[in-house]
Formats: sequence, structure tokens, C-alpha cells
Amino acid sequence: MSKSLQAIRGMNDILPEQTPAWRYLESTFARLMDGYGYKEIRLPILEFTELFARGIGEGTDVVDKEMYTFADRNGESLTLRPEGTAGCVRAVLEHGLTGGGQVQKLWYTGPMFRYEKPQKGRYRQFHQIGVEVFNLPGPDIDAELIVLTWRLWQKLGIADAVTLQLNSLGSSEARATYRDALVAYLQERFEQLDEDSQRRLTTNPLRILDSKNAQTQAVLAEAPTLADYLDDESRAHFEGLKARLDAVGIAYTLNPKLVRGLDYYGRTVFEWVTDKLGAQGTVCAGGRYDGLISQFGGKPTPGVGFAMGVERLVLLLETLDRIPAELGRPMDVYLCMFGEEADVAGLALAEKLRDALPALRLAVNAGAGSFKSQFKKADKSGALFALILGENELSQQRIGLKSLRSDDEQELVAWDELTTRLQERLSQQIPADRERE
Ligand code: HAM
Repeated sequence: MSKSLQAIRGMNDILPEQTPAWRYLESTFARLMDGYGYKEIRLPILEFTELFARGIGEGTDVVDKEMYTFADRNGESLTLRPEGTAGCVRAVLEHGLTGGGQVQKLWYTGPMFRYEKPQKGRYRQFHQIGVEVFNLPGPDIDAELIVLTWRLWQKLGIADAVTLQLNSLGSSEARATYRDALVAYLQERFEQLDEDSQRRLTTNPLRILDSKNAQTQAVLAEAPTLADYLDDESRAHFEGLKARLDAVGIAYTLNPKLVRGLDYYGRTVFEWVTDKLGAQGTVCAGGRYDGLISQFGGKPTPGVGFAMGVERLVLLLETLDRIPAELGRPMDVYLCMFGEEADVAGLALAEKLRDALPALRLAVNAGAGSFKSQFKKADKSGALFALILGENELSQQRIGLKSLRSDDEQELVAWDELTTRLQERLSQQIPADRERE
């Protein structure tokens, strides 16, 4: 195939065989959010470039190397969103949703774009499900966010495969003092650092902590740790969070090197990681960003949130074989029609059936075909019953009703009795696990 007819590298089609798992994840999440009182917000995919440069921070990999940025026809610099937090903050500010200390508990889903090196679990267009909460400064809401992700893992049957990593980044002052100490320590050992870390020493020194380079990690073993620099308030905040997680019974690992790749975090940061997906093991990540809104010119407003990677969670569900077999439920009924007149009458009949039984899963044969070929399609659709409309049935205003899953004789049903009869037969045949929701 010519190159121009292929998808862009790292941007995947989600094929029909995969979408049931996606919908399962998304709908499980949406129901969960309803249960916790969170509301959905839908945000644009394109924003002014400046939003991300200011929000996520110059010096981060995302802003410096990974954004899809271009000038529109007006010469404005626009960027395909690499994440959802900055846009969400922009939206709540623009619409005054956080004014007067109003609490907002919001969630969103959608595609994000980062020019990263594609590999399993890492793509250039990927999807996040995210949550952002505004105007709640305490550890209680940090705990609630972690609790609801933990509940999602349980609902999805993946709780045993993920672990929670936790850290506190402290106040910006504490972080600044720590940064100075870390830089001083690393400066003395500059030659032992890998090239990337040498560069980061001036741009974003805290990111050196999560370097994957073994020699750099060895240098870091004796480095000052952020925990020793925490301010009292951040320490108390962190204790409050841990106490709540302990009370619910959520296990966590304290990871003093967890700093996150985006600049807006302070105090709580967390990641849910799995060892089942290889290198790209973080399925959900987030934290507190109390300074971000004032950075955008709004009144100081606490914010906290997280985002999970949909592709990674779907991969995990597949790996653990946790996708319910019942997904993508088959049809209830397949309507076979023989001859032009039956085709015409059948369509009208099918729509009457849909009026009467809105939850009915009814496939109507298209493309005519022999008895054999239509029955083959009916069988493949998974339908429990075939409806058969040929010239004879048409002339009698009746229709054949035949079970596709048993040897029951075909019965002939008058059109005006079809709804009732079909309902009866379906309720006898639909097994409990195929009951409609
Ligand atoms: P993030 O850590 O950059 O945080 O991304 C969150 C999650 O998105 C990751 O843990 C991962 O599961 C998924 N993800 C990120 N990049 C890719 C990729 N290239 N391919 C596949 N999946 C990916 C944020 O984006 C923050 N906005 C999270 C947040 C919300 N913090 C506070 N509120």
C-alpha cells in the first residue's frame, strides 16, 4: 500500500474486535464516576501552544520534544493536546467554574498526542481517562481519588496486578531548597552522570531521580532525598493521606524518587504500576497541582487529579484475560427476506418491531441472497431466532419464527401478534447472562 494510505506511525486504528473492551472500560469508569458524584467535561483537542508551555513547563520532555505544534492559517501556534489537565484548567477558569471557592469534580476521556518513540504501551496518539478536582486542599480528596482508582481496578478484576507508588513533593519552597541541594551534590559527580541527566541538571534536575541509567542511579543512592526537605504542612498532608489509605486497606509503596514528568505537581504524587506490560508499566498517574491555576492568572485554587492510559489498561485486561466474554453481545433476531416485495415489507415490519421493543437487537438482512446464505449470516450474527419472510408468508400477512439455537419447529406468526410472540419466545430463550441491562 502506498505510504500516504497508511496510518501515521504510533497512531492506531481501534478495530471493531477491540472496541467492546474499550467501551467496557469506559462505561465501567463512567458508572463509577456517577457513583462518586463526579461530572463529565468535554474539552477541545487543540489549544494554543502557550497553554501547554506555561502549564506543563518548558524543560519537560513533553513540551520540549513531544508536542505536535503547528501554525494554523492565521499564523496562530496551536498544539494537539499532549495531556488533559492544562486544557481542563483553562476551561474551568474561562467559564468561572471555580469562582467563589466552588468545588468541581470533573472527568474526561479522549485522545492525547505526544511525539514519543512508539513501542508496546506507548503511542503517539493515545487515550486517557482523567479526573480533576478543584478547590479542595486537603488530603481527604487525594485519598478519594486513589480510592476510586482502586475500586476501578477491583471492578475490572485487575487489582492484584497493580501496585500503588506514592510520594510527596512538598511545597514549592521546600522543593526549591531540595533542588539546590541535589544540584550541588550532582554537580560534584557530573562526569558520572549519563548524558541526559547532565542536560537535565540545568533544565529539570528533579527528573534525574527517575533516570533509568544504572550508573546515574548508583550516584543517586547517596544523594539527599526530598523527604528530608519536606515542610511541616506537606508532611502533615502526606500523613493524612497515608492514614486514610491505611484505613481503607489500600497498600502502597513509598517511592522518594517518584517526581513525575510534568512541572505542575506539588505535594502528593502517585502512580499505579504493573509488571505485566513490560517497560510501559504505569497505567495511571497523577497528583496535586495547587500552583497551576494561579500560574494561568487565576486566583490561587487547589487542584488535584490523575489520568490513566486506556491502551495500557486494555492491554492489561487482555493480558490477564479479564475482558468478559459477554461483551459485544450478539443479536437477538435476524430477519431473512426472499424477493423484492418481502424486502420492502420486511423493512417496514422491522421498524414496527423496533418501535414496540426498543431494546431488541435486530439485524435485517441486506443484499438479498439464497435461503442458505441468509441462514448462514443469521447464524453468524449469533441471533437466537430467525424471522423468515417470503412470498407465501407475505401473502398471508404472517412471518416464520425459527429458533437458531434449538431444533424447535418453525412457527408461523401473524404480523399483529409478532411483538407479543417474539417477546415470549425471547424471554424463554435468553439465558440469564444475556438479559438486557
Ligand atoms: P502522564 O503521567 O503524562 O500524566 O500520563 C498519564 C498516563 O497516560 C500514563 O500513566 C500512561 O498510562 C498514559 N500515557 C502517557 N503517555 C502515553 C503514551 N505515549 N502512550 C500510551 N499511554 C500514555 C498526565 O498526563 C497528567 N495530565 C495526569 C494528571 C491529571 N495529573 C493531574 N491530573
